[in-house]
Amino acid sequence: MQSLIIFASGRGSNAQAIIDYFNNDSGVEVALIVSNKKDAGVLQIAADNNIPSLVVDKQSFNNSSFADTLKGYTPSLIVLAGFLWKVPDAVVKAFSGKIINIHPALLPSYGGKGMYGHHVHEAVIAAKEQESGITIHYVDEVYDNGGIILQARCTVSAEDSPDSLAQRIHKLEHFFFPRTIEYMLESK
Ligand code: GAR
Repeated sequence: MQSLIIFASGRGSNAQAIIDYFNNDSGVEVALIVSNKKDAGVLQIAADNNIPSLVVDKQSFNNSSFADTLKGYTPSLIVLAGFLWKVPDAVVKAFSGKIINIHPALLPSYGGKGMYGHHVHEAVIAAKEQESGITIHYVDEVYDNGGIILQARCTVSAEDSPDSLAQRIHKLEHFFFPRTIEYMLESK
């Protein structure tokens, strides 16, 4: 059995897509969902799917024992699906090459601290970009910096709002994120 840990701060539509994708795969389980927000939608998704969840505050997240807590779940991958805090260096070191993030733009553009969710789409539209997309990448000690695993593109039109672009980006994410995870698990 291969285990996934998902870190998520928000609605959790990517977490849901991952759970759904592996639902019929007896070899892969989502063992834990970690959130930094006690009212995050993703916690309801965890409860609905009988997946253990953990709400962390900044102090426990950055405590050196947090890596040990995660090790208890022996994850093949830790998946950041809309998670907004920087992963502590101790966790990055403990799970080197096993932590991946999804970003709703084509990195290295529109990345870095403060660039998440709608802020990203607003910036892309303000810059009159004709193209945006998603980036799935390894997590290292620097925000949005680790090696790129996959990018997928979509068009941005002059009529797009941050909402309409977010919807197009979410479709790409829900398709490519579970499949990229599957590919990575198979090549381990
Ligand atoms: C996703 O679009 C993800 O790419 C983005 O947050 C959204 C979460 O949506 N992540 C970032 O912006 C990270 N910098 P969800 O909660 O519906 O999965």
